[in-house]
Amino acid sequence: MPVGKVIPILDQVRERLRAAAAHRRRTGRPFVTLSYAQSLDGSIAGRPGRPLALSGPQAMALTHGLRASHEAILVGIGTVLADNPRLNVRLVAGADPQPVVVDSRLRFPPYANLLKNRQSPLIVTNEGADAERQQTLEAAGARVLRLPGNNGWIDLADLLKHLGAMGINSLMVEGGAQIITSFLAFRLVDQVVLTIAPLLVGGLRVVNPLGHYSRRRFPRLKHLSYQQLGDDLVLRGEPDWDG
Ligand SMILES: NC(=O)c1ccc[n+]([C@@H]2O[C@H](COP(=O)([O-])OP(=O)(O)OC[C@H]3O[C@@H](n4cnc5c(N)ncnc54)[C@H](OP(=O)(O)O)[C@@H]3O)[C@@H](O)[C@H]2O)c1
Repeated sequence: MPVGKVIPILDQVRERLRAAAAHRRRTGRPFVTLSYAQSLDGSIAGRPGRPLALSGPQAMALTHGLRASHEAILVGIGTVLADNPRLNVRLVAGADPQPVVVDSRLRFPPYANLLKNRQSPLIVTNEGADAERQQTLEAAGARVLRLPGNNGWIDLADLLKHLGAMGINSLMVEGGAQIITSFLAFRLVDQVVLTIAPLLVGGLRVVNPLGHYSRRRFPRLKHLSYQQLGDDLVLRGEPDWDG
């Protein structure tokens, strides 16, 4: 089996994203990059709902380069409540992506840092969500997109179709654990950029059961490459959904 090549991951990602517009025209949805940092034992945070800085400065700069390379960036409401992120581009030059937050109960807080960005966040909820909460969030500067369904989580395949119809060619998914698991379980990921930080945390596990119980159906990455950034190892690959 060929060993992955050591080449700059960001260049490779950008090269892959050249085909994002064609991908959207063909599939109706954006090209999806899943990117997050984990510890050696596969933890994404120390405890649920708590932030934990895992990446070193060089890997953080890569994350900002990835943000600048995508047209939109998506996180779950759990990440907004835990980390209160900006999701913008600060450590490198480049344009901010459109923030998208998946939030079926409109728990998005009006004090969120995402409301301080130039780009107003798009909060995706379902038809049953509280109308007053929507008004409050819109008054605070957010945009709200309601998708069909009164209960339960957002249908991510449906959401991707909406983002595709809005003309968004590329989407970076940054977390957290439940969102990452859902994107993988529904096979909605086109490439993965994973930062592995050299520490053992024993915390919030990043990928939970995916519902693929046969070894042949476990998603395996192909076209692998690796890069060391400071103390971190960064890996890029593409899930082989048909393998
Ligand atoms: N290391 C990293 O790279 C990184 C990156 C990001 C986050 N994090 C960490 O991850 C943790 C947050 O992760 P989390 O798992 O608690 O929250 P999350 O994945 O950010 O958000 C999950 C929430 O999104 C909503 N949701 C709606 N539709 C969904 C769907 N189809 N699939 C999944 N979720 C859906 C649900 O809340 P509702 O039912 O209210 O809609 C769900 O509880 C924090 O500790 C944060 O620090 C780490």
